Amino acid sequence: MKALIYKNNNIEFIDKPKPEIQSPRDAIVKVKLSSICTSDLHIIKGFVPQAKEEIVLGHEFVGEVVEIGSDISNIKVGDRVSANCETFCGECYFCKRGFINNCVNGGWELGCKIDGCQAEFVRVPFADKGLTKIPKNVSFENALFVGDILSSGYFGVELCDIKENETLAVIGAGPVGLCAMMCAKAIKNCNIIAIDIDNKRLNLAQKLKFADYTFNPNKIDIEKEVNKITQNRGADGVVEAAGGDNTFELAWKIARPNSVVGVVAMYEVNQILPLPQMYGKNLIFKTGGVDAIHTQMLLDLISKNRINTDFLISKVFNFDEINRAYEYFRAKTDDCLKVAIKYN
Ligand SMILES: NC(=O)c1ccc[n+]([C@@H]2O[C@H](COP(=O)([O-])OP(=O)(O)OC[C@H]3O[C@@H](n4cnc5c(N)ncnc54)[C@H](O)[C@@H]3O)[C@@H](O)[C@H]2O)c1
Ligand SMILES: [Zn+2]
Ligand SMILES: [Zn+2]
Repeated sequence: MKALIYKNNNIEFIDKPKPEIQSPRDAIVKVKLSSICTSDLHIIKGFVPQAKEEIVLGHEFVGEVVEIGSDISNIKVGDRVSANCETFCGECYFCKRGFINNCVNGGWELGCKIDGCQAEFVRVPFADKGLTKIPKNVSFENALFVGDILSSGYFGVELCDIKENETLAVIGAGPVGLCAMMCAKAIKNCNIIAIDIDNKRLNLAQKLKFADYTFNPNKIDIEKEVNKITQNRGADGVVEAAGGDNTFELAWKIARPNSVVGVVAMYEVNQILPLPQMYGKNLIFKTGGVDAIHTQMLLDLISKNRINTDFLISKVFNFDEINRAYEYFRAKTDDCLKVAIKYN
């Protein structure tokens, strides 16, 4: 089969043997659509030390089950499935508490430590946990982002413990931030403040009706504007999904006392927590690699037309054009948010 591997801080399109079942809880999935994640770019740049050389890249995909191990009963051959970006056993200390990102038997494996989905077929370990059946009225396109970007956006909202009708500020209107806004709007009817330095992305957030207010920190004093909207209290929750130079600082500054700052962004440098300055704000900080345990619920919301991530697909490429897809995504050509790779 054809596969895209990571080699010498670059990518290479090669032929390699089709994966086989290795354990009773494995499944083999024929990939139908996959995407490229910023984490794939991080691997290629050499920023992910645990990534194995010559691994097949990719962890965001949907497909059709073609083979199952002897212990799999909730999924059968022919099922259309969305895959979780994390591999998790469901039985360890962390999994039992929903903290699957820290599963002692898994974690971020696909496309990092074991072969991922930018190939015609992929072996999914603990497939009874990692695969979710796609409802009949949901297309592969509709379900593509459920196991990674959509889950990450939802996770940001969940971290903030936001209540119905409260005001949520989301820093970063990239794929994760937009998904956070969409979920908070659809599930909690939140008042959303979108913050980004990219006006095009802010306009999109407004056009999609995810954001009630859009603010660009290069243009206005965000703290002042947030205070105006919130009777000087600050936002009831802040999702930090930008990871920019000053966005961590902005996040705690615009949070109202006793609220939660949910940090989903991955920083490239350490951040400062100036406790004397924020003394008395009584903030709660939560950070996290996504615990993507709500894939069923998110697919149900898509099925009921309450959320829809199709807007994320800026361009579709055929699998044999995947090199071009990487270039397009990396360069943010045509203001690209995400690409979809189509397989035969
Ligand atoms: N925790 C997880 O499990 C998880 C999962 C997926 C992605 N992430 C991380 O979440 C973040 C967002 O992901 P994405 O795919 O949406 O990335 P992205 O780069 O497309 O979006 C980030 C947005 O932040 C904006 N931004 C950058 N600097 C800013 C600043 N100073 N002020 C305001 N806005 C600024 C950018 O213009 C961009 O629109 C990344 O850091 C990514 O690594 C984390
Ligand atoms: Zn990812
Ligand atoms: Zn586990």
